[in-house]
Amino acid sequence: EKGGYDYFMLKEIAEQPKAVADTLLGRIDTSGALTLDEVRISAPELREVDKVVIVACGTAFHAGLIAKYAIEHWTRIPCEVELASEFRYRDPILDARSLVIAISQSGETMDTLMALRHAREQGSRVLAICNTNGSTIPRESDAVLYTHAGPEVAVASTKAFLTQLVACYLVALYLGQVRGTKWGDEIRAVIRDLAEISGAVERVLETMEPVRALARSLAGKKTVLFLGRHVGYPVALEGALKLKELAYMHAEGFAAGELKHGPIALIEDDLPVVVVVPSPRGRSVLHDKIVSNIQEIRARGARTIVIAEEGDEAVVPYADHLIRIPVTPTLLQPLVATVPLQVFACELATARGNEVDQPRNLAKSVTVE
Ligand code: M6R
Repeated sequence: EKGGYDYFMLKEIAEQPKAVADTLLGRIDTSGALTLDEVRISAPELREVDKVVIVACGTAFHAGLIAKYAIEHWTRIPCEVELASEFRYRDPILDARSLVIAISQSGETMDTLMALRHAREQGSRVLAICNTNGSTIPRESDAVLYTHAGPEVAVASTKAFLTQLVACYLVALYLGQVRGTKWGDEIRAVIRDLAEISGAVERVLETMEPVRALARSLAGKKTVLFLGRHVGYPVALEGALKLKELAYMHAEGFAAGELKHGPIALIEDDLPVVVVVPSPRGRSVLHDKIVSNIQEIRARGARTIVIAEEGDEAVVPYADHLIRIPVTPTLLQPLVATVPLQVFACELATARGNEVDQPRNLAKSVTVE
């Protein structure tokens, strides 16, 4: 049932192009517009929404952090993202005009379930993004957008994450479409780009051998740091989470702009630091800033592992290891930038002799608070 792979995780990483394509299937019509009939919250109701609040845990929370950038950019609706376990305990401000999005692969995560129950008690509408048909979270929500990743067996979430991102982009674009905000050339272009993205994920998977070799060479390290900016920041958090749960290594993700506010003190000779570099096109200010960050850490001895778009030559002089990813629009980059980090963590876990599919102390679905 592992389809020839040693681990479910490897199989699930390999299934990502299909999972992404399946999650888009039937949701974009021939005119290039979105048809999300499953979102059973009416267009007039969606036009009334004045705040989006995303609740989730772990990897699904990272998908939510990325969704915030897309939702605010494409819809101009303020969006908050909160760890489901913190949400209801701080008495959040919610009402009938708040749209709460609960993201969960399993649909059974107790923290997320309790957060959505709290939101509904306040009169908010809840949209679930979920991978498991008929599970508790979609059953208790007002609407659901299913991700079509297929069953995810490995404890470490991979293909579910990519499909959660796709679903989040779809919701953001749909909200933009329904509300007429910024609906136009940019959104249409993004929908076209999304339709191509599964091929880009496929191309990343074809080039992972050097990433595996690099991971094996780092098996004796104690710490790996991850840096990113903009949507690359949640990608850095996700890379660090994968490494913690699979390789049992100390791993932390930082917003690169925070370096000089503390984390740069951690940099020492030969410390591996993975840097997710935004596209030099579009938001070039961000790109230039991160190139300076790479220089700063390298000057202090860091071993830089740079994930950058094909054709980005500015990073070359400062990259001890360079991992290329296809050119994508900035907001969609997490779909390709996360993949090498999954492969990296999986290979490090294997090199360290860890159980890949069943990491110690963890359960696939956390059904207690
Ligand atoms: O089933 P869920 O998406 O609600 O699960 C949320 C987290 O428990 C989950 O993403 C966890 O962080 C994964 N093990 C990460 O790989």
